Amino acid sequence: MKNVVVVGSQWGDEGKGKIVDWLSSEADIVIRFQGGHNAGHTLVIDGTTYKLRLLPSGIVRKDKISIIGNGVVVDPWALLDEIKEIQSKGIEITQKNLIISESANLILPFHREMDEIREDAAGKAKIGTTRRGIGPAYEDKVGRRSIRVMDLISEKNLDHRLETVLMHHNAIRKGLGKKIYKKEKLKDDLLKIAPEILKYSQPVWKKIDEFKSQEKKILFEGAQGILLDVDHGTYPFVTSSNTVASAAATGSGCGPNSINYVLGITKAYTTRVGEGPFPTELKNEIGEKLGSVGKEFGTVTSRKRRCGWFDGVLVRQTIKIAGIDGIALTKLDVLDQLDEIKMCIAYDVGGKKMDYLPAAMDDQLKAKPIYKNFKGWKSSTKGIKNFEELPENAKIYIKELEKFIETKVASISTSPERNDTILIVDPFSI
Ligand code: GDP
Ligand code: IMO
Ligand code: MG
Repeated sequence: MKNVVVVGSQWGDEGKGKIVDWLSSEADIVIRFQGGHNAGHTLVIDGTTYKLRLLPSGIVRKDKISIIGNGVVVDPWALLDEIKEIQSKGIEITQKNLIISESANLILPFHREMDEIREDAAGKAKIGTTRRGIGPAYEDKVGRRSIRVMDLISEKNLDHRLETVLMHHNAIRKGLGKKIYKKEKLKDDLLKIAPEILKYSQPVWKKIDEFKSQEKKILFEGAQGILLDVDHGTYPFVTSSNTVASAAATGSGCGPNSINYVLGITKAYTTRVGEGPFPTELKNEIGEKLGSVGKEFGTVTSRKRRCGWFDGVLVRQTIKIAGIDGIALTKLDVLDQLDEIKMCIAYDVGGKKMDYLPAAMDDQLKAKPIYKNFKGWKSSTKGIKNFEELPENAKIYIKELEKFIETKVASISTSPERNDTILIVDPFSI
């Protein structure tokens, strides 16, 4: 059995969508296992762009099965809108190629409102969330008062579940001077769309077990990045799920022994959307240039992404935390015209040299990068599909990066297009 997990090794937007789409030619099933529509995964296929938020990136290929696992938080209206949007681009989506876990937890309008209320109230201490209700929905899941896909099955059940969750939310809303959230209209709205969601719903763990016995290949598609993981990221400036590779097992319903290879998608520089520490951030014209050449605007919120140099220390750290076997190095072409390129190889934290980012927020904010400098290659790598054709200085940068992070560069992406990718190690054949 050959199953591959794809995760982001930085703060998200590393190009996971592009690589999952490219790799999915070899897979039978693509599964999203955490996050929600805070994710924005972009695929470019023969000039047509698809922006996916909840749908797995396998959806665009005929004969692949796409699964939304139990670990994902699903805004049912956002999902139905996305299905319609993708169908309007000529992609077929039916119960044959889309399955949603009956145990997936729902994001409801009061989650989105709570996300907004808290972010607005936090002032300078805001996290800079996507305001999609992700955090409040995961809180309700762990608080055991959430509404799951299967709860849409009957009015009686839904009524009872809504009563429980709204008791909690309305207590907080009252405390914050906000209007009470009424149950009846929401219940009616949910019952109206229930059949459209329930028709995709199945016990995903059981399907995975069947696929395993049929020796199907599964590609697990992570969202966000390891530095946004709720345990291992730059807490509290993180998302509310585990983004590490092992979440693929819990978020879909199989064991860790179902994972054979972990591919870490890694941008050749670093970006971050939202607040929080970012040691190699460049608040100068080079940062601006990376942003404009790399088109670094959020897929979900259109916010400008913060840009900086490649942080080898952080990527080496996330590789170890997530058990990454090899990386896909993306957006190499964005560095093409730079005279000089820098890579962070250690930090100075209040006068102490450190080879990892400490967990305390104060230390993270103090960490000053220590750089190694590289000569730019000043020529286009756009569309190159063969390692040998890369300029010499690009090869030097990649080889040094590989040595520093102690992990194989398994593929290199040289443009947003699906096939503009250099294959070095095929994760499905290991
Ligand atoms: P994801 O969230 O990890 O799937 O990444 P996003 O789709 O949010 O952001 C990555 C952006 O970079 C998208 O606009 C991609 O089309 C684009 N992209 C992916 N790989 C490359 C590449 O190698 N070169 C360039 N120039 N753009 C790329
Ligand atoms: P993909 O899958 C980049 C960030 C938000 C914010 C923090 C918490 O496209 O890589 P949340 O709404 O999750 O509570 O926000 O996490 N964030 C992302 N940043 N890419 C993403 O997804 C992200 N999903 C959440 O900007 O800083
Ligand atoms: Mg994204």
